[in-house]
Amino acid sequence: MGHQLLAGKKGIIFGAMNEHSIAWKVAELCHEEGAQILLTNAPVAMRLGEIDALATKIGAQVVPADATSLEDLTKLLDAAEAQFGKIDFVLHSIGMSPNVRKNKAYTDLNYDYLQKTYDVSAVSFHKLMQLLYQRDLMNEWGSILALTYIAAQRTFGEYNDMAEAKALLESIGRSFGYHYGKKAHVRVNTISQSPTPTTAGTGVAGFDKMLTYGEKMSPLGNATAQECAAYCVMMFSDYTRKVTMQNLYHDGGFSSMGISEDLLNALN
Ligand SMILES: NC(=O)c1ccc[n+]([C@@H]2O[C@H](COP(=O)([O-])OP(=O)(O)OC[C@H]3O[C@@H](n4cnc5c(N)ncnc54)[C@H](O)[C@@H]3O)[C@@H](O)[C@H]2O)c1
Repeated sequence: MGHQLLAGKKGIIFGAMNEHSIAWKVAELCHEEGAQILLTNAPVAMRLGEIDALATKIGAQVVPADATSLEDLTKLLDAAEAQFGKIDFVLHSIGMSPNVRKNKAYTDLNYDYLQKTYDVSAVSFHKLMQLLYQRDLMNEWGSILALTYIAAQRTFGEYNDMAEAKALLESIGRSFGYHYGKKAHVRVNTISQSPTPTTAGTGVAGFDKMLTYGEKMSPLGNATAQECAAYCVMMFSDYTRKVTMQNLYHDGGFSSMGISEDLLNALN
């Protein structure tokens, strides 16, 4: 039953591919907290993934959309408006780098791939918000979130060009947060999540070691996808109305650490 923190609220959730996806857990918990959800993902991910099972479980409509396509996003928002009228929250949980997928080294990037990384993983956030903004589709005190990673601030060699994409994503969140706050009291934030074993996460080279490193470094341990879902619910709820233009670390304390005793001991 949850606490009904999102009773009466309506939201769009991008990026639930399979039960490991962070967006999957967010959608389940938002539903449990009383929200109505519209699910979306790229058409190819919908064919390969299991989104229909989630949709049935939470009684959600599914609308395919490539988040880089203004045409697809427009159709998605048409469907959302037809179902909900105005919307209270949106989760952007999308990331993809062709350079990572094709094992291109950071020092040997393909620049066409780099553009694609930016478009899918960061510019799509702007496209989505620009359409919402121009169509005035968010309710006052609505909440928009995107998921990011600390490689935007610090260098993690294997994260490749996704580091630049996340830096851009966070900047877009801040900049749009200003404009949307002024226009309609809508807040925009990014959540910087611990390494999490999902399809996108495990695609990064050395992921298992990153997971162990995060676990040993963070006093509270890595934050799980389920815990991320709880944080997203709080950020969509009315208890966080004046939090905006922030990059919020959800990482068990990792971002404030220099070195931990656990890690020092592991080096012995
Ligand atoms: N897993 C981690 O370690 C971790 C850590 C910090 C942040 N994140 C971020 O969390 C978000 C969700 O990733 P995840 O870990 O749940 O992995 P995931 O692979 O389950 O989700 C990524 C999603 O992006 C979608 N996507 C890719 N290209 C798209 C497009 N063109 N249009 C629409 N959707 C598209 C995929 O279909 C997939 O559903 C991403 O932004 C990721 O960078 C993940």
